[in-house]
Formats: sequence, structure tokens, C-alpha cells
Amino acid sequence: MLGPAILAASRSDKMRRIVSAAPVTKPVVNRFIPGETVDQVIPIVEDLTRKGLEVTLDVVGEDITTVEQSYAARDAYLELIARLAGLGLGEKAEMSVKLSMFGQALEGGHELALANVRPVVEAAAAIGTTVTLDAEDHTTLDSMFAIHEELRRDFPQTGCVIQAYLFRTEADARRLAAAGSRVRIVKGAYKEPAEVAYLDKAEIDKAYVRILKILMEGEGYPMIGSHDPRLIAISQELARTAGRKLDEYEFQMLYGIRSEEHLRLAAEGHRMRVYTAYGTDWYGYFMRRLAEKPANLLFFVRSMITK
Ligand code: FDA
Repeated sequence: MLGPAILAASRSDKMRRIVSAAPVTKPVVNRFIPGETVDQVIPIVEDLTRKGLEVTLDVVGEDITTVEQSYAARDAYLELIARLAGLGLGEKAEMSVKLSMFGQALEGGHELALANVRPVVEAAAAIGTTVTLDAEDHTTLDSMFAIHEELRRDFPQTGCVIQAYLFRTEADARRLAAAGSRVRIVKGAYKEPAEVAYLDKAEIDKAYVRILKILMEGEGYPMIGSHDPRLIAISQELARTAGRKLDEYEFQMLYGIRSEEHLRLAAEGHRMRVYTAYGTDWYGYFMRRLAEKPANLLFFVRSMITK
């Protein structure tokens, strides 16, 4: 029951001010968001890649309110890509972007987000890497998929995310499981109404498996975004049944969550990509991580009380 309340708080400006100002917040945030600047995140990328892991980088931020902020988001990614290129990290690190941070919700936002994300995708391609469009709440997805399709005309390797909790996703998976596509499947992290999404955990897991099967049996490149040991084992089984080799799909997990599992899967020969978020506007991302595991919230509250 705590999860939905935390997700509601993730959209509250008042809670944002309280949580961001609390002195005890930072150490808890650091577990999931290991830096605020490019300079702080580059050593993390170097460390992860030295350990045989790959990375997808997210400059945190969403729900912006001005066009200038959307340009700043684009420029932050361009700066990141230039730094990765200079260090020869282009092949091991891709980018994850949230279109709301590129202006999608502003007036004329669809076109604005497309205009902002295109140079990022171009710059990524120029250094031999890719961009994946994250999935946000269900009201944003038609626009996200349309931008994805548009980008894929010139950059077919551009990826996107689908969320198992949404009723629409099996149909999206069928459409996307075509040759050359890169699709990350996740359970879904936003507060969604019962009209569009499964709310029951067991139902979400069953949908996840149905969608995994579609992706594994399809022609595209499935990216399994989950920390759930059962789903990871099922993915391995489905990949075997579909005759996929180890380089024909990959696992992805979030920085700071089940890190030992990242290393175990990589040691087994799997491609394992760590989603690493950094930046100053970490509130929304952080609150979704708290909502996923109520024990995180208890740890956070306890550290506030004992301070
Ligand atoms: P589940 O929540 O059942 O967790 C399984 C186990 O993992 C837990 O028992 C616990 O041990 C551990 N765990 C999971 N979350 C934890 C946390 N926050 N803290 C500590 N332990 C935790 N969502 C979305 O809507 N749009 C998106 O674009 C993305 N992108 C994305 C990328 C990647 C690489 C991942 C891994 C996830 C996302 N997500 C996402 C988030 C996703 O929708 C989902 O909320 C989380 O992955 C949690 O679901 P699991 O599949 O891990 O299962």
C-alpha cells in the first residue's frame, strides 16, 4: 500500500521541497544516483566497464516547465556523449532519455522533444552507441512511440521501453518485435489507473512473461530490465527455447540494486547493462526507487529519525 502513496508524492512539489532539503536524504540518494555531474559519473562508468559490465546513462530530470530547460537537457546529453567519446567509452555506454525532459509536455511538445532528441541520437551514433527512449506514464506513450518510429528511419538502432503493467503492451510488443529493433521490457514504475494497467503484482508478472515470449520469439533485440530472479531465470529459459545466442539479448538492472547479480550474470557470459542515473534533478527518479521497495523507505525514515 505504501508504493502508490510514494508515487503520488513523487509528483508533489511540496514533498519535493521537503525531501530535497532534508540533510539525511543525500546518502540514501547516492545509493541509486551516484553523482550530480559528468565528472562524478565518469569514474563510475569506468569502474563498471572494467568489471565487464555495460552502461546506459540517464541524466535525471523530467516534467520540465520551460523550453530553455529542454535545451539544457539536450546539451547535458551532448556534453556527456562528447566526454564518453574522448575516453573511448562510446561502445560500452549508451544513453537513456526521458522525453518529458526534452519538452514533450510543453505546448508543441511532441515536435520540440523530437527536435531536441534528434541531435543526441545523431551524436550517439557518431561514437558508435545508441539511445533508448524511456517509458513514462501512459499518457505520454503514443507520442514516445511516434518519436521512436521517426528516429528509427535514420537511426534504426534507437531503442524504446515497454511496460508490462499496461494492457496495451502486448500489442506494442508484437509491433516492435521486428528485425533490428531494440526493446527494453520492464514491469513499469508509474502510478497508473486500473482502466489502463494491471495493479496486481502477480498479474504484472504474468504479463511480463507473455511479453518476454513475444520479444524472444520475434526478430528484434530484447533488453530485459528487471531485478526479479524468477523473471531472469524465465528469460534465460525462453532465450534458450527460442535458440538465441548470448549476444542476441541482454539484461539490464539499475545502479545500486542487486549489484552482485550484475556481476554474476556478466560472469556467466551475459551482456549486462547497468542503468546509471546522475544529475541534480533526482527527486522523481529517487521516489520511484523508494516506491519499488518499501524497505528503502523505512531505511530512509529511520535515518531521518536517528539523525
Ligand atoms: P520487483 O519490483 O518485483 O523487484 C524484484 C527484486 O529486485 C526485489 O525483491 C528487490 O530485491 C529488488 N528491487 C527492485 N527494485 C528495488 C529497489 N528500488 N530498491 C531495492 N531493491 C529493489 N520503468 C518505467 O516505467 N519506465 C522505464 O523506462 C524504466 N526503465 C528501467 C530500466 C531498467 C534497466 C530497469 C531495471 C528498470 C526500469 N524501470 C522503468 C523500472 C521498472 O519498471 C521497475 O519499477 C523496477 O525494475 C522494479 O521491478 P523489478 O522488475 O526489478 O521487480
